[in-house]
Order: sequence, then structure tokens, then C-alpha cells
Amino acid sequence: MNLFENKSILLGITGSIAAYKAADLASRLKKSGAKVNAVLTPGAEKFISPLTFQPVIGSKAYVDNDLWIGETHVTHIGLGHNADLAVIAPASADFMAKLAYGFGDSLLAVSILASHCPLLLAPAMDGDMYDHAATQANVAILKERGAHFIGPASGHLASGLTGVGRMSEPAEIFNNIRCLLSRDGKLRGKRILVTAGGTREAIDPVRMITNRSSGKQGYAIAQAALDAGADVTLISAPTALDVPFGCQYIPVESAADMLNAVVAHLPECDGLIMCAAVADFHPLAAAEHKIKKDGGFNQISLEPTQDILAEVAVMRPSLSKLKAVIGFAAESQDLRQNAKGKLDKKKLDMIVANDISAKDSGFAVDQNRAVFLYADGREKEIPLMGKDQLAEALITDLLQLL
Ligand code: C5P
Repeated sequence: MNLFENKSILLGITGSIAAYKAADLASRLKKSGAKVNAVLTPGAEKFISPLTFQPVIGSKAYVDNDLWIGETHVTHIGLGHNADLAVIAPASADFMAKLAYGFGDSLLAVSILASHCPLLLAPAMDGDMYDHAATQANVAILKERGAHFIGPASGHLASGLTGVGRMSEPAEIFNNIRCLLSRDGKLRGKRILVTAGGTREAIDPVRMITNRSSGKQGYAIAQAALDAGADVTLISAPTALDVPFGCQYIPVESAADMLNAVVAHLPECDGLIMCAAVADFHPLAAAEHKIKKDGGFNQISLEPTQDILAEVAVMRPSLSKLKAVIGFAAESQDLRQNAKGKLDKKKLDMIVANDISAKDSGFAVDQNRAVFLYADGREKEIPLMGKDQLAEALITDLLQLL
């Protein structure tokens, strides 16, 4: 299910100081399993050598001369036709002008003319060049024709000035490519709501009650759903993680915030995956001001939070779109029995029973092992694997439920 496997990416590099960053992008694409064809324009060759790319992508990097003395005289047709996605990073003002008007004066330009795949451009130039009416008109023509753009970002420019014109970072461009490649996946047209992270229950403005959840499993599920082509709403308690590119992100703090957000967004969703570690109790009332230690602070009165999945079960008959509700059960003993009890009580279609007693799986680490238990009595053992792999397995099974 690796999105990048068997995918051919045409990476065009044009004349800009940001050309060196294209090697990082090439490396990310290659490591993800894609076949990368790098093509440098004559301008790009003044900033970086094709030799920089060859070991990174494991094959020849094309230069303009290959248009005339290449393996065959139709190199550009092959490069263009075979691409699943073309990305120009960096995209210079000059190259965008050529693309906008259909010039075919370089191997890269003719390859793009011959391609039928989505095109992503990451402009990089001085701020004044980007702002120029001619550049803006060319960007508008290319957008009108369906090209996708990322950046340029604002910041320090090679000219010494500060402004809009920096090429977006390779990690961002990579995430954008990932998102574009996923759009024809099997979950296309479906909206999946994923909750993640450990909620925070305030004691006073400084202190809180929370739990060990890192949010890693929930974020991996959101990414796997995006990779499968779904529209994803991610409702998340605070985490240290990067939000998966392309999802609708709703940050929340407490169990009550999460409940409100779930209730608000669920009606437009086809599936719900409640991966968040929601607090079961919260302080009766958070103090308005910081509690002073001098006063002797040794007791916090707690009351139960509302169970979000229980509320979902009440709402469900009125939610015609919602076809699958999946919960999680983090258990340190009697895994199957406890999880089965929650599956029935919370009226779920499936529960992921998570053994958190082992050090190598569960909270905070990158791996997990689980049992998928279904409402119809089926069970599926998920051995120790990466949280991203478990997320893929879960999304594959979600497809059957929808
Ligand atoms: O009952 P327990 O907290 O063990 O159940 C875990 C499952 O219930 C998870 O899917 C969790 O996201 C969800 N949950 C909830 N509302 C709560 C507590 C947990 O929906 N208040």
C-alpha cells in the first residue's frame, strides 16, 4: 500500500540558488520508494551538477544536452509520458514564463509539454521578480490550467532582502507531492474523522491532568487515511507531532472540547476512528487563578468526563452518512475480555485492543501490537509492527466497513 511504490516522479530543477535543496527532495522521494527522473535546465546546471543527483536517485540525471544526444531522440516523450507526477523545484520566473506560453526550448520544457500528469511548481526567486505583473500573470495562467503551487515562502532571500520568494522546504514539497499522489485512492470521496492525543484537564491556569499518549498512532492513522485518498478531519489534543499535510486540523485541549468538536464534525463524516486517550475524570472546577502552595493544596475533587463514544452511539441513528465507528482499548490486563466489553457497551463496529503492558509497544514508542475485534465476532491478530503499518492495516479494514 506504499503510495510511492511504482510511482515515477519527474523532478525538474531550474536556475535558482535553491537548486541545491532539490537534492534533499530527490532523496526523500527516492527513500519513499518512488522512481525519480531528475532533469536539469541549463540554468540549473550553473548552480548544481547532475552528479549530485545521480547517487541520490540511483540513475542518470538528465541535462539539456540529452535532448539531442540522448539514448533515443524521444527522451523527453518518455520522461513526460511515464511520469505520475511532475514537480518543478525550484521553479524560476523564466521557466514559469516558458511553461505558461508553451515554449519547448529545453529538455525539461518539452518533457512537461509531453506529460499528462499533475504538475506541482515550487517557485523560487527574488521577491520583486515574484511580485512582477508578468510573473503573477504567468502563475495565474498555470493555475487556470490546473497546475498546483507550493510557496514561495517568506524569509531571507539570496539578494540579501527579506520577502516572499523563498522556495518551500523540501519536507513541505514532499508532503504536498504525497497528498497529490493519493487523490485517486480507494477512500476518495469519503471523509474520515480521527481523534488523537491525550486530553488535558485543567486544575488551574498552570497545572493539568493528562496521560502518556503521544498521539503517534492517531496521526499515523490520519496519514494512512489521507494516503488512501480520504478527506480527513483530525481532532487532536496537544502533541509534539507535525500535522499531516492536507487534513482539516481541529486542535482541542480537554475531553469536553473534544466532545464538542466530534459532535460538530461527525455529521459530514463516513467513518470515525476514536484513537484519542480521552481523560475519564476531570477536576470538578478549574481554579481561576494559580493555586498557591502556602494554602495547603492536597486534594483535587474529580468527576467523570462524558464518554464521547457513548454520545456518538446516541447520535448515530440520525447520522445517515456514518458507516463505521472504531474505538481503541488500551489495556494492561485481560486484553480481549476488556476490549470486547467496550466494543459491546460503546456499540462499535470494531475495536483496536492495544496491549500497553509490553515496553516495546503502546504509548509513546513507534511500534504497536494489537488485536482487531469486530462486532460480528471476527478477530485479527496484529503482531508487533510500526504504528504507520498498523495504521495502514486499520485503514484497509475500514474500507470493508464503509
Ligand atoms: O472506556 P475507555 O476509555 O477505556 O475506552 C477507550 C475508547 O473510548 C477510546 O476509543 C477512547 O477514544 C474512547 N473514549 C471516549 N470518551 C471518553 C473516554 C474514552 O470516547 N470520555
